[in-house]
Amino acid sequence: MSDQFEKRLKRTLILSAIAFVVGIVAAYIQISDLKDSARNKLPPPPVAGASVGGPFELIDHNGETVTQDNYAGKAKLIYFGFTYCPAICPTELQKITKVLKQMGKEAREIQPLFITIDPERDTPDVMQEYVKLFDPRLVGLTGSQEQIDEVLENYKVFAKKVQTAENNDYTMDHSSFIYLMSADDQLISIYRIKDDANYIIADIRAKL
Ligand code: NI
Repeated sequence: MSDQFEKRLKRTLILSAIAFVVGIVAAYIQISDLKDSARNKLPPPPVAGASVGGPFELIDHNGETVTQDNYAGKAKLIYFGFTYCPAICPTELQKITKVLKQMGKEAREIQPLFITIDPERDTPDVMQEYVKLFDPRLVGLTGSQEQIDEVLENYKVFAKKVQTAENNDYTMDHSSFIYLMSADDQLISIYRIKDDANYIIADIRAKL
């Protein structure tokens, strides 16, 4: 083998190795993206104007029946989750808390709502104790299974009961998005887990 041939062979081998690794990484990213979108069942933001939302009748954390009219004239930050959620839900509600705190008086025209996907366990009392952990402006909403099913459908929220092995217990699989709705209940933005408080604040300031 000539020196030159050896060099060329080496270079070809190195380049193929790099191409192989890049290919694997690209495939991996594509697969995790697919998994992500399959789980979250919604297109990425912004999707202003999409037909998401609609009238609702639910029960707030004080046990009062409320509808969209109780929050009329205010923009809304809405999150769907459940109080037994170990990680994602509290993190996202913490994010909403941070947004409200940092915006201060600017947030006066925004009503934050936490709507449960697990009305069986999230009674008004449970919701009341839970929202206390976050911002005092946060309102927890629950209702009958039918009332919740309707609002989940209107907001295109994916939520599914999953039985766990221990004690006949269950957890909830669910999509995790924060919805920014206008005062007249039109979808303005949807924020994903990766969108941090600063991103959300900038987007709200730009769009409200
Ligand atoms: Ni959750």
